[in-house]
Amino acid sequence: MNPRFHELKVADVRRETEDTVSVAFEVPADLAEAYQYKPGQYLTLREEIKGEDVRRSYSICSGANENELRVAIKKVTDGRFSTYANEILKEGDELKVMTPIGGFTTEFDKNTSKSYVFFAAGSGITPVISLIKSILHTSPNSDVTLIYGNKGIESVIFREELENLKNEFMDNFSLLHVFSREKIGNSLQDGRLDEDRILKIYHALLEGQEIDEVFVCGPEPIIYAVKDAFGKLGFEKNKVHFELFTTPGEKDANKSKVQHRDQGPRIDANVKVILDGEETLLDLDSDGDSILEAAQKAGADVPFSCKGGVCCTCKAKVLEGTAKMDVNYALEDDEVEDGYILTCQAHPTSDELIVSFDD
Ligand code: FES
Repeated sequence: MNPRFHELKVADVRRETEDTVSVAFEVPADLAEAYQYKPGQYLTLREEIKGEDVRRSYSICSGANENELRVAIKKVTDGRFSTYANEILKEGDELKVMTPIGGFTTEFDKNTSKSYVFFAAGSGITPVISLIKSILHTSPNSDVTLIYGNKGIESVIFREELENLKNEFMDNFSLLHVFSREKIGNSLQDGRLDEDRILKIYHALLEGQEIDEVFVCGPEPIIYAVKDAFGKLGFEKNKVHFELFTTPGEKDANKSKVQHRDQGPRIDANVKVILDGEETLLDLDSDGDSILEAAQKAGADVPFSCKGGVCCTCKAKVLEGTAKMDVNYALEDDEVEDGYILTCQAHPTSDELIVSFDD
């Protein structure tokens, strides 16, 4: 089932820090199944703000063990939606909320016995806390280590909740705060979460431990720092899961690190887009609109949010032909190998191309 928007009522807006709120939604019984989520997934919210249709994606921060659908929204400079959510949104308001999606998750159950290591920076804690709570409550034989980077203690989102988890799961949950602008006496915890510090933390706390999966969520530098550090430690690439949290502009500054479209010969392609079993045919120039834009112009109600290659909402599968993406901040290597593309970033590189949102 492709993601769909429904109007949901805001059940509660809770202040988490000076610049972050969390927002819970009421889910009517007939939509309960559609809004079932996996920990680590996200919701795309949509609202008309000052006459403009604004969509933003926010990770779910509630856990699978909680009977709640809640996202955290950190106010960013000039962020229209995040400012609206932090300053205006209130209990009882209605918002268009897309059904949950996202691949920053993992399978576990009561019989799972794994060792998980999480790295989060700033609001990157949001999907991470959802995963951590869910693992701790569901898999008593698993253990979790969280290394959480912030400017200082006041900017720690979910501070109290994390402390409570530490107390409740003393034997299974370890937490290390790292502060870039505040000193707390331990040199391991002072500074940025760069590759050097990650390796130091590994040697001090994790060496000798059998780590099954690593998760990292935050801006691009921390994602590469964790990937590079664990690559050097000989850790398998596909065991490091990542979710990019970025603010507009940041991703452009870091473009060199991600996949780019090859400058091949220009192609006029016949593109077929399949969505909910319906086919839309497009004449598409390889140097022109993205597949998503072209499909939208042709009237298809394609799912999207960021249009910047970050959120993954526009993910679809190439069934025939080839396509290249301008940037990809969201798909894992194995997903790309399996033929998945971000349609907001994708352009045809073969004369005939079939792309499906249904696969
Ligand atoms: S719409 Fe967000 S990655 Fe394409």
